[in-house]
Amino acid sequence: MSSNTDPDIIRLKQMAADAAVAQLEDGMLVGLGSGSTAELAVASIGKRVSAGLRIIGVPTSEKTAALARLHNIPLSTLGEHPQLDLAIDGADEVELPGLSLIKGGGGNQLREKLVAISSRRLVIVVDESKLVERLGTTFPVPVEVIRFGWESTAKRLEAAGATPVLRHRDGKPYITDDGNYILDCRFGPIASPPELQRQLDGTVGVVEHGLFIGIASQAIVAGARGVRIFSV
Ligand code: A5P
Repeated sequence: MSSNTDPDIIRLKQMAADAAVAQLEDGMLVGLGSGSTAELAVASIGKRVSAGLRIIGVPTSEKTAALARLHNIPLSTLGEHPQLDLAIDGADEVELPGLSLIKGGGGNQLREKLVAISSRRLVIVVDESKLVERLGTTFPVPVEVIRFGWESTAKRLEAAGATPVLRHRDGKPYITDDGNYILDCRFGPIASPPELQRQLDGTVGVVEHGLFIGIASQAIVAGARGVRIFSV
């Protein structure tokens, strides 16, 4: 997740978030993403809810759930609502024109993917620094792995071409909301994201990963020239 505190970047993230939140209508079931841009969207949704918008949110992380509660956004679960109308989430890299993504810089890729594939539309909100020609250019692929035997999972990922690094926070291995580790896997520019997805999906010990291929329907990209919308 980007910890960018540059006010210009925050302004761009806010523009993208607001453009996505403008799509919400009364009665919608809405996936609430994680990360700094998605959090701006949650705050904007909160403003619309206090002005009378009626939606129900399904959060993609404990942190987003807490933020949504703070903003009085009614919450539910995928158990109660397996089919959502729209999810709004950020991304670490966006490849045009197909809107393939790397997500999970904030460590929430598992719940983010579950919510995304349960939504009729996934709208991605980013500033233009997230656009890349090839996925993997700037960001490693976060791979969520079972803690048991994680070292052997890391070896299998190495054999698939990755340089895996166990994610840490405050000097300790980072643990996801679902109790797993994350291996940040550098592959370099990824020639075939679908092929890599197949390999990761087939690796024993991998719970989920941050490659989102063919899932996003729209990217709202804010930059110096305003907001651009890319749809597939
Ligand atoms: C959270 O796990 C991520 O998938 C975020 O959506 C992604 O890291 C983008 O975060 P920022 O909006 O903070 O850059």
